[in-house]
Amino acid sequence: MVFSVQAADKLNLPPLHHVVGVKPSEAINIPDVFKLGEQQELICATCHGLKDIDKTPVEEVDTDSADFLVGGSYRGLTGFCYRCHDEKKTQRDNIHLMFDEQGDIKKENCTFCHEDVPERDKAQSIADVKLRLPLKTICLGCHLKDPHFNSVEHQVKPAQDEMLERIEKNSKEQGIIVPLTDKKEVVCVSCHASHQYGVLNPETPAGKQVKTENLDVGVDYKEHPWNSVFTADKALRLDEFNQQHNMQVKFSYQRIVQETLLRLPAKDGQLCLVCHDFKD
Ligand code: HEC
Ligand code: HEC
Ligand code: HEC
Ligand code: HEC
Ligand code: HEC
Ligand code: HEC
Repeated sequence: MVFSVQAADKLNLPPLHHVVGVKPSEAINIPDVFKLGEQQELICATCHGLKDIDKTPVEEVDTDSADFLVGGSYRGLTGFCYRCHDEKKTQRDNIHLMFDEQGDIKKENCTFCHEDVPERDKAQSIADVKLRLPLKTICLGCHLKDPHFNSVEHQVKPAQDEMLERIEKNSKEQGIIVPLTDKKEVVCVSCHASHQYGVLNPETPAGKQVKTENLDVGVDYKEHPWNSVFTADKALRLDEFNQQHNMQVKFSYQRIVQETLLRLPAKDGQLCLVCHDFKD
């Protein structure tokens, strides 16, 4: 993601603000209500109707004003974004949503990771399915090796054999699988399920996972490539709000979204305790 950091510094813009000063590429369609600058570039007045917004200190800008964003008030900020950005192109299909409207599985999704569509009632272990790539790399390409805090540190062989013994014992007790590589390394799917809940029989260890009723809802929010912008923006405002009102409000939906595709809940430590013994 590109942020115009230098420009933002110079222009007294709020942190993580939209880029300015760039000429729209072909990917962007600018409706007539948005006025561009002399060089056909994005200027403050392209998006803001407030006079001299660039000369007003950020904290004094009236963001509640109807003129704050060109075109009036939008129900959701994304509605504003999609006036210029192509909604379809900015979303990637979430292949983990594996059921269609009829409740049948979307077979075309399976072959992103499997060589053939597995027979769900026959395949009973990893050995029964042909994966396109080794466990270690199957998620990469679509996801980074370090998609979140502490994930790289985890993709190693446990330093202590006791951990391996724990994994074997605890995963049996919890009725889940914790796949490791041939070299006993932890990988994404040691913690994460690849499949939407119900694709694999939830009564079996491979199919037991955190049940997310609203995978699509959560993901809907996540699907925006600008999610981090919104979250950071909200975090700032929330901090201010909390300071003003002396409160500790947090975004709870964030957590719901993040507890998707896990073999056990992590928020209460269950997942961690399959491998770790934090008492030591
Ligand atoms: C007036 C039209 C317009 C609106 C409205 C608009 N954008 Fe943009 N946006 C652009 C242009 C032009 C670029 C520069 C990139 C280009 O031309 O392809 C850009 C670039 C971006 C980029 C950087 C993309 C990259 O290629 O690095 C992000 C992220 C972005 N916009 C997010 C948003 C979000 C979020 C909103 C809504 C809050 C929004 N935009 C609203 C016109 C707009
Ligand atoms: C492509 C559209 C776009 C352009 C161009 C643009 N802005 Fe913004 N700006 C936004 C959007 C969208 C928000 C509101 C984000 C939100 O509500 O979370 C915003 C928010 C702001 C805010 C309020 C931040 C806050 O939350 O208090 C200020 C101040 C601001 N912009 C200043 C500027 C200035 C100055 C320029 C020109 C240098 C500029 N903007 C150019 C889209 C744009
Ligand atoms: C994102 C990659 C990915 C996609 C997409 C995917 N799978 Fe899998 N699948 C895996 C991995 C990795 C394993 C082995 C580890 C596990 O079970 O999580 C596996 C294992 C399986 C197994 C064996 C489970 C067992 O009992 O051990 C079945 C059956 C299966 N997948 C069916 C499907 C079906 C049906 C689809 C399409 C709806 C599908 N998979 C889509 C990655 C994927
Ligand atoms: C073909 C591309 C593709 C592959 C392969 C893939 N994913 Fe994803 N995954 C996505 C997309 C798209 C999303 C939706 C969110 C986004 O755009 O980042 C997603 C979302 C997720 C999420 C977060 C769900 C949420 O709501 O925040 C997890 C966890 C995840 N994937 C794990 C995995 C794991 C583990 C593997 C490997 C077994 C894998 N993915 C392989 C494309 C892929
Ligand atoms: C599949 C097994 C497994 C699971 C599940 C797991 N860990 Fe780990 N964790 C490891 C391994 C392997 C290491 C590498 C160090 C080692 O071998 O002891 C590690 C290392 C760590 C470290 C030290 C990181 C560093 O900087 O060296 C922390 C902290 C940690 N884990 C916390 C957690 C938390 C919190 C959870 C639950 C969200 C969790 N782990 C879930 C296997 C696991
Ligand atoms: C040690 C367990 C563990 C490993 C290994 C692990 N994850 Fe995660 N992952 C989690 C947990 C727990 C969360 C929930 C996030 C939270 O609560 O902070 C998560 C969240 C995610 C998310 C959604 C969160 C977001 O911010 O978008 C994605 C995507 C994801 N993981 C992908 C991966 C991929 C890809 C790998 C391998 C390269 C991987 N994870 C390795 C435990 C793990």
